[in-house]
Amino acid sequence: MVERTLAIIKPDAVKKRVIGNVIQRYEAAGLYPVAMKMMSLSQPIAEGFYAVHRERSFFHDLTAFMSSGPSVVLVLEGENAIQANRDLMGATDPQKAESGTIRAAHGASIEANAVHGSDSPETAGFEIGYFFPGMDLQAGC
Ligand code: CMP
Repeated sequence: MVERTLAIIKPDAVKKRVIGNVIQRYEAAGLYPVAMKMMSLSQPIAEGFYAVHRERSFFHDLTAFMSSGPSVVLVLEGENAIQANRDLMGATDPQKAESGTIRAAHGASIEANAVHGSDSPETAGFEIGYFFPGMDLQAGC
C-alpha cells in the first residue's frame, strides 16, 4: 500500500552536511519527498511534536537538541513508507543500528541520531498534520 510518513533530518545531520546523502538514500529506497521544508524548530514546537514523550527523562534534552539548529522536515511517499523508512533509518541508538542504515552512517548517539521517522499510521497522521497542516496522510491527496 502506498502511504506517507513524516521524516526529519535532524540538526546534527544538517550540521554534518549530509542532507543530500540522506535524501539520496530515501529516493534510492523508493521513498519520494512530496513536501519538504528547512526550519529551525523552537523548543515549544519541538515539545509539541514530541508531546508523547513528555514524561520521559530525556524529554528536555531531546527538545533542546531538536531546537539547537535547522532541521529538514519532509513528507515521504512510497510503498509501506512508514515501515520502509524505519528499516532505512535503523535502530534509535546508532550503536545498535545495522550497517547500511542512515543512523549507522550518520548518527553519533541516541540523541544525535540523524533522522526521525513516524512509527505508526496514527503517529504519521499527527506528525504530517503538525508540520504540514491540511496535508493528508493518504497518497495522492
Ligand atoms: P526519534 O525517532 O526522533 O524519537 C524520539 C527521540 O528521543 C529518539 O529519536 C531519540 O533521538 C531521542 N532519545 C533521547 N534519549 C533517548 C532514550 N534514552 N531512549 C529513546 N529515545 C531517546
